[in-house]
Amino acid sequence: MFAVKKIREKFPIYKKFPNLVYLDSGATSLKPQPVLDKMNEYYSEYGVNIHRGVYELSFQATDEYDMAREKVARFLNAKTEEIIFTANTTDALNKLALMYSKENIGPGDVVLTSELEHHSSLLPWMKICEEKQAELRYIPLNPEGRITFENFKKVFDDKVKVVALTYVSNVMGYKTPLEEIIPFAHQNGSVVIVDAAQAVQHFKVDVKEMDCDFLAFSGHKMLGPTGVGVLYGKKRYLNQLKPVFYGGDMNQDVYLDRVEIKEIPYCFEAGTPPIAEIIGLGKAIDCLEEIGLENIENHCHGVYLYAMEKLSGIKGLTIYNKNADIPIIAFNIDDVHPHDAATCFDQDNICIRAGHHCAQLVSKWLKCTGTLRASIYLYNDKNDIDKFVISVKETIKLFQKLEGVQ
Ligand SMILES: Cc1ncc(COP(=O)(O)O)c(C=O)c1O
Repeated sequence: MFAVKKIREKFPIYKKFPNLVYLDSGATSLKPQPVLDKMNEYYSEYGVNIHRGVYELSFQATDEYDMAREKVARFLNAKTEEIIFTANTTDALNKLALMYSKENIGPGDVVLTSELEHHSSLLPWMKICEEKQAELRYIPLNPEGRITFENFKKVFDDKVKVVALTYVSNVMGYKTPLEEIIPFAHQNGSVVIVDAAQAVQHFKVDVKEMDCDFLAFSGHKMLGPTGVGVLYGKKRYLNQLKPVFYGGDMNQDVYLDRVEIKEIPYCFEAGTPPIAEIIGLGKAIDCLEEIGLENIENHCHGVYLYAMEKLSGIKGLTIYNKNADIPIIAFNIDDVHPHDAATCFDQDNICIRAGHHCAQLVSKWLKCTGTLRASIYLYNDKNDIDKFVISVKETIKLFQKLEGVQ
């Protein structure tokens, strides 16, 4: 039995807002007390800089920081030196695109991506392709809006140097068939970059098993704090990349005319990192592992199925993704702007996201101005869904009445 009630007790926001129906975990997850306590512990007990001080407190901060990297590595089944801390997914994917394209992308090369991408996966490569006269090519989506291996193969050729794809769409909740795409891309000489911002919090991601070359995610969507993200890269690729940021803590020796940089991953982490956040991310991983990702997945799927059952058949509602792989419902109330609908839900203490979700190409593909997104996570239960469904029905009624008045 998945004890949601007990889990909710760990999230202090429910103490302040007992009636909160939080269905926006796709944007960011709520934060449990142990993560907040761990960050507070750093600030109040050993809140000094890392890697610099030759005194006990600095050693302690450094140990905690290093331990967080080990936890992330274990979480992904990577080596510790393959884990680079960044500010978030956006930061990770931008840095990687700049570093990788420097020597590996030129005129006529192709970067293969999709219309399901979050802007942080798409736009860095769009800009690089523009500057380098490379081609940004899209995998056509199938009628359901999914990336398929068949369509991937149709547009893949020997000019493709980089495949940059989302693992799970933040709008549609669809999983990309990377288990087929990655070996095919490798056999044909391309690297694969995975945006896992909507994946790692929902199911086990094993980078060795997947065999992806690079992968990025954010701490704040997986019970961790904002301000910290992760870039994973295969050691042999990271060893070939040159940093784009230079400064403190990433160099070994500095001369008048040159700098010798540190080994990976430190050469990619210039300046004081978000120490408290990185330590907090380590604690978030402890929390996820304690509950168990598989248990979280099963629970969320159950709540998702319940929501779909309750929502299906409601007249005046369009659901765009009837069969999502992670618990995301993309929908609209017919003829109502998503922002107006979300404002009505807010009156009932229901938080859901409205708009294009930083993935405008998806809205364009769906031919709508934007969508409403209800995203479910481990602290949600059927009671949340019941309140949400009532609010949906009332919102539909309200707008029908307003239409009648006009
Ligand atoms: C699939 C996906 N990629 C990337 C991002 C960007 O994450 P961040 O804003 O933490 O950099 C998000 C955030 O919503 C996302 O859902």
